Amino acid sequence: MKIAVIYWSGTGNTQSMAEYIAGGIKEAGAEAEVFEVSEAPTSFEGYDKVAFGCPAMGAEVLEEDSFEPYFASVEGGLSGKPVALFGSYGWGDGEWMRSWQDRTTAAGAALFEEGLIACGEADESECADFGRRFAS
Ligand SMILES: Cc1cc2nc3c(=O)[nH]c(=O)nc-3n(C[C@H](O)[C@H](O)[C@H](O)COP(=O)(O)O)c2cc1C
Repeated sequence: MKIAVIYWSGTGNTQSMAEYIAGGIKEAGAEAEVFEVSEAPTSFEGYDKVAFGCPAMGAEVLEEDSFEPYFASVEGGLSGKPVALFGSYGWGDGEWMRSWQDRTTAAGAALFEEGLIACGEADESECADFGRRFAS
């Protein structure tokens, strides 16, 4: 089992989530490869599952300069793929994640649970548990 964990992060909160989730994946006995979005693969043939992380930015949207164009370029290839979503937010109510979940489901991906969201800094064990469950 090989899982790609792909994230964008401005101030490090979503990056920490990516690292904690990858830790949980590895604890579950699976392989995790973590990529900042600028170095991420654009095809997931070599991966059994993919986790994407991006904080709430703009007005309840994905980060628009790097992550949004990247996700737009890969979402057409997510049909049937198990996908987990995660990200940090500040003052909103998680609207960006609800929209992102709907978009991911509409792309035909097999969305894992609800996206994991963290206000500001994430809790390591909560993220690791999410990663463990995603890998099993
Ligand atoms: C330009 C900008 C726009 C943001 N827009 C939102 C938003 O619409 N809703 C929200 O809940 N938080 C918003 N935030 C807060 C971030 O999501 C929050 O600080 C998060 O922890 C950043 O994650 P990161 O450390 O991975 O970059 C915004 C932050 C910035 C800098």
